[in-house]
Amino acid sequence: MKTAKLVLEGKEHELPVVVGSEGEVGIDIAKLRQATGAITLDDGYGNTGSCKSAITFIDGEKGILRYRGYDIDDLVRGGCRFSEVAYLLLYGELPNQRETEAWRYQLTHHSLLHEDMKKFFEGFPSSAHPMAILSAMVASLSTYYLEGENQEEVNIIRLLAKAKTIAAFSYKKSIGQPFVYPLNHLSYPANFLRMMFAVPTEPYEVNPIFEKALNQLLILHADHEQNCSASTVRMVGSSGANLFASIAAGVGALWGPLHGGANQAVIEMLEQIQADGGNTKKFVDMAKKKDSGFRLMGFGHRVYKNHDPRCRILKETVGKVLEQLGAKDPLLDIAKDLEQAALSDPYFIERKLYPNVDFYSGLIYRAMGIPTSMFTVMFALGRLPGWIAQWKEERTTAGARIHRPRQIYTGRTQRKFVPLAERP
Ligand code: SDX
Repeated sequence: MKTAKLVLEGKEHELPVVVGSEGEVGIDIAKLRQATGAITLDDGYGNTGSCKSAITFIDGEKGILRYRGYDIDDLVRGGCRFSEVAYLLLYGELPNQRETEAWRYQLTHHSLLHEDMKKFFEGFPSSAHPMAILSAMVASLSTYYLEGENQEEVNIIRLLAKAKTIAAFSYKKSIGQPFVYPLNHLSYPANFLRMMFAVPTEPYEVNPIFEKALNQLLILHADHEQNCSASTVRMVGSSGANLFASIAAGVGALWGPLHGGANQAVIEMLEQIQADGGNTKKFVDMAKKKDSGFRLMGFGHRVYKNHDPRCRILKETVGKVLEQLGAKDPLLDIAKDLEQAALSDPYFIERKLYPNVDFYSGLIYRAMGIPTSMFTVMFALGRLPGWIAQWKEERTTAGARIHRPRQIYTGRTQRKFVPLAERP
């Protein structure tokens, strides 16, 4: 086994090295503090592996993303359905015909919410952000579906099946329309779109262009190894917390504008540029000034130092969807200008800042008529199977321990207590 040598205060220590199936090298510091009395410090965990995982592989330098060994390009262009990818992430293999039919049957026959859970929506204001509703409702599923003997698999299916219903109901609540129930003969994306846009007063046909595009979006968002929200799910799950509590925590982490909330922030940024006259260079220059407080949302990535492979596919899709609709979106032209301007600017080139998954995804949701406030919920629906797969892996890894990082204390050293009456 390869080792790494560390010299600390004149003493040499050998640390074991772990090599992954794709050749990634990790220095195992599990015994570091015991051997040296020192810990490591890594702001934002940019250099720290929290686990070994067999679910998703990313090569940030080459712009590679694979789920259980399959390139996402192959999954998307191979006509995979989101339900198949969810199965792949959770069970490690693509389902065969029989497994696919059984899996889809399960996912459709658990789509309804308990009728009493509908009452929860009466307490939310119509202005409630749908991510707040999603987080609250996912956590509340644990009040109806307890953990227990042989309950884990059915609770996983319940969560996957009901999340799209919760998301659609949160939209209906925000526009004061009646909830539309799922139909079991529809695919996952079609069922969601119908629950979002159908009304009880007339028939509704799901647009196949949107069904196909949404299927692709869900697949592209399905997992992304140890991103902020997946790490949150693993951390909460490592304490033994139930599935619903762990995933609700992941929803909260995803909501942030630096993470999944970026898809909403991208559209708001493009609208700001449009309202300002469309001068993309002005905004690129602003993004380069630290004190401007402005960042190009949808640009940059902790891991990808090359094109985000998901963004490449989505850029193609948004053009196709608008063309098939015979529609134009001025924000797409602004986005392409912005990308061009940034990718030819030394500031972005030096920092290897490329457009990420959030840069074009919102333009496709917009073309479908999904409101901006729902964009991060759409990200969460896609990411759900990945979060659950990460949670399962954390819980089933032999010897897995509760996540409890250390710190370097920089506060006041010991001082004498002064009773209130004697404080100046
Ligand atoms: C997602 O982790 C995942 O896998 C996430 C995700 C997933 O599928 O789960 O891929 C989904 O969250 C994509 C990222 C969405 N967020 C955004 O688009 C928000 C804008 N991007 C940034 O805030 C930033 O790029 C991050 C948060 C994505 C990454 O942050 P890092 O890795 O901590 O990088 P950093 O902030 O240290 O930036 C490095 C440098 C800095 O400049 P210097 O200090 O070197 O001078 O690049 C600059 C930053 O100021 N920079 C940007 C920038 N992003 C980084 N400058 C302008 N605009 C930007 N968008």
